[in-house]
Formats: sequence, structure tokens, C-alpha cells
Amino acid sequence: MADTTTPTRRAAVPSVTIAPSGLVSLDRLSRTPMDRVHHGDVPLSASPPPGARRSSFDAPVPLPAPRGPVSAALIDLLSGHPAADIDLDRLRWTGCPAEAPTDDDLQLALWVSYEQHYRGLAGVDDGWEWHPGLVSARRGWEQQLLDGLRNELGEPPCDGQRFSTGREAVQAALNTMASADDEPSLSKFLMRQASSCQFGEFLVHRSIYHLKEADPHTWAVPRLSGSVKAAMVTIQADEYGGGALPAMHAQLFRSLLVDWDLHDTYGYYLDHVPGVTLMATNLISLFGLHRRWRGALVGHLAMFEMTSSVPNSRYARGHRRLGGGEDAAQFFDEHVVADSVHDQIALHDLAGGLALDEPALADDIVFGARCAAYADAAFARYVFDCWGAGVSSLRRPVEVCPESHRE
Ligand SMILES: [Fe+2]
Ligand SMILES: [Fe+2]
Repeated sequence: MADTTTPTRRAAVPSVTIAPSGLVSLDRLSRTPMDRVHHGDVPLSASPPPGARRSSFDAPVPLPAPRGPVSAALIDLLSGHPAADIDLDRLRWTGCPAEAPTDDDLQLALWVSYEQHYRGLAGVDDGWEWHPGLVSARRGWEQQLLDGLRNELGEPPCDGQRFSTGREAVQAALNTMASADDEPSLSKFLMRQASSCQFGEFLVHRSIYHLKEADPHTWAVPRLSGSVKAAMVTIQADEYGGGALPAMHAQLFRSLLVDWDLHDTYGYYLDHVPGVTLMATNLISLFGLHRRWRGALVGHLAMFEMTSSVPNSRYARGHRRLGGGEDAAQFFDEHVVADSVHDQIALHDLAGGLALDEPALADDIVFGARCAAYADAAFARYVFDCWGAGVSSLRRPVEVCPESHRE
């Protein structure tokens, strides 16, 4: 394990060119070193340096810097007492649907409001969690995100196949989505070409989800029954390490962050990541917190599991290529093994089982899976756009790791 207390310099960032063929080439040096580039004017979080905290306890997340009028109004409200009246006009997001899934202001407002249901927010009264005014405002943001997702996704593709049951249709749709080999592939880039800085940025983005890995999908458990619940619990039990802390996937990810000299504090990088990264977790929280969206939640998890094993094997190779530690690679290796089993459970017993039990949810299951695929693709597009332009994909670049340790 590297020394986690000494700030170090990183290599200049190679930029990325995406050819019309979809192949990614790395053919020139960055015009602008990432550590001089800022996407946003975000203050540094007042958190301890890497290595200063090695507890598995997740403290409530400090309120982040606002990113627009809605998140500013929300953060201002949460800093006060929940009995205060709410001016709902201040919490109304006025962007257009096409921007909703990636809008920084809207996605931060959603993330902050959802976090009250997870580890909580530092200095924020728990009485805000179910404050009627705040719940009402969030319902508006959720509807805008859903409208935006439908706008982006369009109608489900129709391949002309006829199915006798909703279960067959769901499984066929999920299989088609999971086997789509869209280029350019972020996982292939990370495996073959990414610099240590880029790989570290990838981990920073993913820390927002992986440090609470499995929690958003676990909302489904009390909403399901019978064999479908059993399938969900089988998957989630592995995600939580079968009850063994060192094997919990969130804990494995924490070890990975430490190996890369990154902060492993829950929510530490909230100010660093863009709206498209927050959206990936927000939409699971949205599906999870509404029983009405249990079908979408199941579809989302199924697509997660069905598209995890191969990318994780590529991440593992990228991690090792860049000098990452063997112990830390366990996060990726575990997903390669576990998700090659989970994908079958997710397809047949979970998504297929729910479509069989509740045929009316078939469209929602597919919608949730499409949202998962969309979030993944939108994130990859964003990252490639940034790296292709020679800039950081983070709102505020971070120190990643010593060159001597990685390259
Ligand atoms: Fe996992
Ligand atoms: Fe899994």
C-alpha cells in the first residue's frame, strides 16, 4: 500500500481521440494538464487527508456547495429548523426535460434530498426527511427527471418478435440490451489506455455509488415477495459480503480507493463529481423509494448485474496495468466472479420472476433496465468528451497517486 499522506504530482494527461469507427486512440499529449483545469468553482471539502480515517462507520455527509438556485435554496433550508415554512417557488427547477438527467443543480438537489434516507447530512435535522414541503418539492424534481429520461430514451425499440408472455418479452429485451456492444467502450479504454489520472478519476466518480453499493436497490426487498424476493436477497446478500464486513462490496471499494491514495470517506467526492454521475445513483433512489417503481428498480438491478462481469474484468486489468495492488483488485475480481452468477439470477429469477408474478410491471422492468443502460452510456460519453478535450472529467480535479507507484 502506498503512503497515503504525501501529496504527489501526477503525469500529464494523455488525451483521447474517438475515431468514427468507435475505436479510441491516444495519440497526443494533453494540451492542458488536468490539475490546472477547473470545470466549476467548487471549494475544497474540509475533510481529513487520505489515510486519516480507517473506520467503516459512515458519518453524515457535509452539505455540499450549491450548483444553482434550486440546490442553493435547498441547502439554505436544510441548514435551518424543519418547522420553518417553505417557499416552494424557490425549489422549483425550471430547466427543460432534455437537460434534467445531467443538470448539476437538479441532480445535486435530488442527491442531497435522497441522502436524508441513507447516512444523513451533517448538521441537518432528521425532521427534514419527511417534511411535507420538501417531499412535495422532490416529487416535482423526480417527475422532471422521469420526463427527461423518457425524452432521452424514446419509445422502446421493437424488433418485431412476438412473445407469448410478458416474461419472455422482458427477458428478450434485457438480453438484447446486455449484449449490445456499444463503442466506444469506457471499460476497454480503462483496460488498455487510460492513464493513472484517468483511472483515478473513474474511481472518484464511482465512489458516489460504490460507497453505498447495494443500498439503493435494497429498498426493493420489502416490496417483493416469494421467489422474487428470494432472488433479490440472494444477490444483495453477496453485495453485503454475506454479513462479513471485509467482503462487503462497499468495503472492498474503500480498500481500492485507499490503494489509489484517494479519500475513502463516504460522500467525500460529492463536490467533485458532475450531475451525470449523481444521476446514476439518483435514479436508483427514485425507483427504490416509490413502490410504484418497483418494476423499474428490479429491471435496473438486473441490467446492472447482467453488464457487470465483463467490464469489471477489464477494470481489473487496467488497475493491474497501472500498478494497482493485488488486495485492492479484489473489488473487481469479486464482481467478475459473483456477477457471472448474479446475471442469471437477475435475468431469470428476479426480472423474469417479477414479470411472471406481476405482468403489468413488464414495461416498467424494461424501462428500469433502459435507464441503467442510459446512465452508463451518458457517463461514458461525458468522460470521453472531457478526456478527448484534454480536461478533467471532475468538477474539481484531484491528486490521484504518485507516479512512482503507478507508472
Ligand atoms: Fe457489487
Ligand atoms: Fe452483483
